[in-house]
Parts: sequence; structure tokens; C-alpha cells
Amino acid sequence: MIKVRKRKILLLPGDGIGPEVINEVKKIINWFNDNKSLDFGIDEALVGGCSYDKHGTPITDEVFYKALESEVIMLGAVGGPKWDNIEFSKKPERALLKLRKELKLFANLRPAICFEQLVDASTLKPEIVSGLDIMIVRELTGGIYFGEPRGIKPIDNGERKGINTHTYTTSEITRVARIAFDLAKKRSNKVTSCEKSNVMEAGQLWKEEVQELHDKEYKDVELSHMLADNCAMQLLRNPKQFDVIVTDNLFGDMLSDQASMLTGSLGLLPSASLGAKNKDGEMRAMYEPIHGSAPDIAGKEIANPIASILSFAMALRYSLDLDNEADNLEKAVQGVLNDGLRTKDILSEGMKETSTSAMGDAIISKLQ
Ligand code: IPM
Ligand code: MG
Repeated sequence: MIKVRKRKILLLPGDGIGPEVINEVKKIINWFNDNKSLDFGIDEALVGGCSYDKHGTPITDEVFYKALESEVIMLGAVGGPKWDNIEFSKKPERALLKLRKELKLFANLRPAICFEQLVDASTLKPEIVSGLDIMIVRELTGGIYFGEPRGIKPIDNGERKGINTHTYTTSEITRVARIAFDLAKKRSNKVTSCEKSNVMEAGQLWKEEVQELHDKEYKDVELSHMLADNCAMQLLRNPKQFDVIVTDNLFGDMLSDQASMLTGSLGLLPSASLGAKNKDGEMRAMYEPIHGSAPDIAGKEIANPIASILSFAMALRYSLDLDNEADNLEKAVQGVLNDGLRTKDILSEGMKETSTSAMGDAIISKLQ
């Protein structure tokens, strides 16, 4: 097994607005190196559509090995309409899915926090979202994203059949549920587990295994089960009933996009994808904004870098054991929002429209 090199940060800016937002993260990492005498080593590589354009593959072996030996990966975003019609196995998204799967990053943490300064940016009423603080724990290396058999094949009547398979094993369920219970203990001590146990056997297994782990090891945490469609509805009706939500790969993908809009903008939400710790306590991890590559606004200097910057705060906290620095970075973000600085996606009346790089600069000046 390739050793993780401590404090090595690999930047994978990717496509669309990825390079713009990751550039702001790079400025912040450099600031920590210069001002806090931290010794983060930075490397940068192509991944996604830009890698396909240059090398004919969304991720080269060389870049994959770089990722394998980095303690922290900061990913921007991959994909865009430019690559819509290329062969499935070469699509930009395959790089992201390969990294998640082969680095075994099974737990995807997606916090949805509504900043007080932005309650009006949400499409929901302020009283519904004010004070919102949810953590979605999405299983990231199993389920229908990776199950076999898969593919598109011709069938007898001349039609074609598209096939994907949804599978989960006991250990795949319990390892991610354990992360959710441990997180809940540091928060409001409540876990809601979501599946479709009313129609899917794999959902029934999910529910049973989460309950069993709870009864064995986490009796002190409040656990409830909810059907995923009901959860989608409850997230809009009364989102503050939730503390930690744990769910599978596909439901987690959808519910986290939905939860993000409670906070006002997809441009604000970070995420962390974590693997298991080895016997030396080392862990692989990839951090990325939950927004996509937004090709329509790429290159215009209007993308919101906050989700990426908050993703780096998660890296400071979860991978680099620098809780104080993480707190300071999060406070700096709050500070610029208090000053009324807004990128276009969260602009409201009376606020000051700010470009991507000016937002990064303002956050750095708050760090000083
Ligand atoms: C996400 C994205 C990805 C996913 C895509 C880009 C493959 O939507 O991280 O939520 O579906 O997981
Ligand atoms: Mg998604």
C-alpha cells in the first residue's frame, strides 16, 4: 500500500469554475504557509474534461498515483456539456468516481448550515431556515453508482435495456453509519437514517443494520428511520427537525442538493469524503464543493469560492488536525458576509457585488 505523504495537498481544479474557485483555495493555503509557518506542500494536476482533452482520459495513472500518496485532495469540479457525447468510460465524472472508489472514500460529509447573514437568500421563509444546521452523511463508494451488472445492452425485441444494480453489504452500511453516530455525539445527538425499505430489499437491509449497530454500540444516540421520499418532503416542510442524516449514495446525492438550497446557494456548501484510518492513524480524504462545474458562468470571475474555501476548512479540521485554523477560516468567511460582500449567486439588495478573486482576498484579509 502506498504511504500517504503527510501535509501533501493535491489540487485538482478540474473543469468549468473549478480552476477559479480552487485558485482562491491556493491563495489561502499559501497564506497559511507564509503567515502561520505551516508547511503544506502543494501540487496540482489535471482531472476531468481538461485531462481528457490533453491525454484522452479523465484521469491519468500518474495523477491517480499522486492522489494516492496525498494526505489531502482539494477538488474543484468536473464535467460540462463539451464532453456530453464522448464514450461513457471517458466522461469527466468517471475520474471523480474512480478517485472516490479506489481511494475508498466511503463517507461523504455534507453540512448544510444557513448563515444568519443569508437567511434571505433562501427561497424558503426565514423562520424555516434560520439557525439551520444539518449534517448529511452520504455513503459514497457503494449502491447503484458502482453495482454490477451495469451497462446498456440490446434485447430480443430490438429494444435496448439500461441496467444498474443497487447493492449494499452489512459492512458497507455499518462503517458509514458509525461515522454518522460518532458525528451526532458531537452535535445534537440525533441520527435519521433514510432508505426505501418499503420497496427495496437493500433498503430493508440498510434499516436493519443501522438499527442493530445502534442497539449494540450507540444506544445513547437518538435514532429514527425515514423513507427517503418523506425525507425530501420533510427537508422543505421542517428542516430543523434534522441533526445528522445518514443515507445511501444516490439518495444522498439528491437530498444534499436539496438541503443546499435551504441555505441559499449551492455556492456555499463544502464537503469532505473520508476513508478509513489505517493503523498509523492516517486517512485519505478528498474535499470538494458540492456545486458542479457551472460551465455557463465559467471564466466570468463571478463564481462563489466560499464552498471551496469552507471545504479547505473541513480539511484543516478532519485531515490536518488544525481545529483553530479551521475555526479562524470559518470566522473569516462569516466576517466578509457581515461586511456585506456577496458573489452574484447570493447577492441581495444593499449588498456589495464581489468577484471570485475579490472574495478570496477579502477572506484572507480577515485572516490577518
Ligand atoms: C456530487 C455530484 C457527482 C455525483 C457527479 C458529478 C458524478 O453530483 O458530488 O454530488 O453524482 O456524486
Ligand atoms: Mg450531486
